[in-house]
Amino acid sequence: MNVTVEARQTENAFPIPANVFAETVTEVRHYTDSLFMFRMTRPASFRFRTGEFAMIGLPNAEKPVFRAYSIASPAWDEELEFFSIKVPGGPLTEHLQKIQVGDTVLMRKKPTGTLVLDALVPGRRLYLFSTGTGVAPFAGIIRDPETYEKFEEVILTQTTRTLDELRYGQDLVAAVKSDEILSEIVGDKLRFLGAATREGEPRGERITTMIENGRLAAELGVPALDPATDRAMICGSMAMLKDTAALLEAAAFEEGANSKPGTYVVERAFVD
Ligand code: A2P
Repeated sequence: MNVTVEARQTENAFPIPANVFAETVTEVRHYTDSLFMFRMTRPASFRFRTGEFAMIGLPNAEKPVFRAYSIASPAWDEELEFFSIKVPGGPLTEHLQKIQVGDTVLMRKKPTGTLVLDALVPGRRLYLFSTGTGVAPFAGIIRDPETYEKFEEVILTQTTRTLDELRYGQDLVAAVKSDEILSEIVGDKLRFLGAATREGEPRGERITTMIENGRLAAELGVPALDPATDRAMICGSMAMLKDTAALLEAAAFEEGANSKPGTYVVERAFVD
């Protein structure tokens, strides 16, 4: 740990509770003024299912603020990756966005969540619908070999306001396709459809609009959404979740849960 970082963090050092891990940041990458990715060490005893979320905080107060963060790593990763928004004045992200390699990040020991393959009944094609940082859990799902054992085709969509917000997802898909081991497993099963709704020519449309007007199926060269063959996971803002789920329900999809798998599952993008 470098001296500056140590000085910065020990100023506010408090005892770590028994239900919390204190991990070390190994990488930080800023994508835009409002988005960044960080990786940290993974405790040997920490187990999670790809797509789950954990509660993240900083050791900067006696009672640290914790927020739910989707784990962007697949379950096999030796480290833990997170993709975060930077909220001006946000109680956690205002500080979290300043972390550097060597800093400490806190994580509660129990992960949970519904964006897991186990909550879906078997199907042929898996849709991963996201907006903004909602792509985070899918960063794990698309890097998990189990996804490709269970599905013949995996379609990741991310819609954002601006083009630069799509870069994390684009980089991920490119990394999967160029990775020696993963590319063998994934083959040509994975596709990414990114669209910015407030920038670029031609202008992208909301995922809900693309489902309704048939552009999604046309661009991908696939049939319209069908619960007989398709499964879906949704992660985005509350409004996007609600509207996308309503379209799936109208097409006779049924929401799944850990206790009762279905044809689609939902998780909101947590940090706001
Ligand atoms: P739009 O630009 O048309 O509002 P936000 O940053 O507000 O969460 O938006 C991220 C992306 O999600 C944007 O592309 C936005 O489109 C889109 N979006 C916002 N609300 C909805 C919704 N109810 N259904 C589908 N997409 C949405």
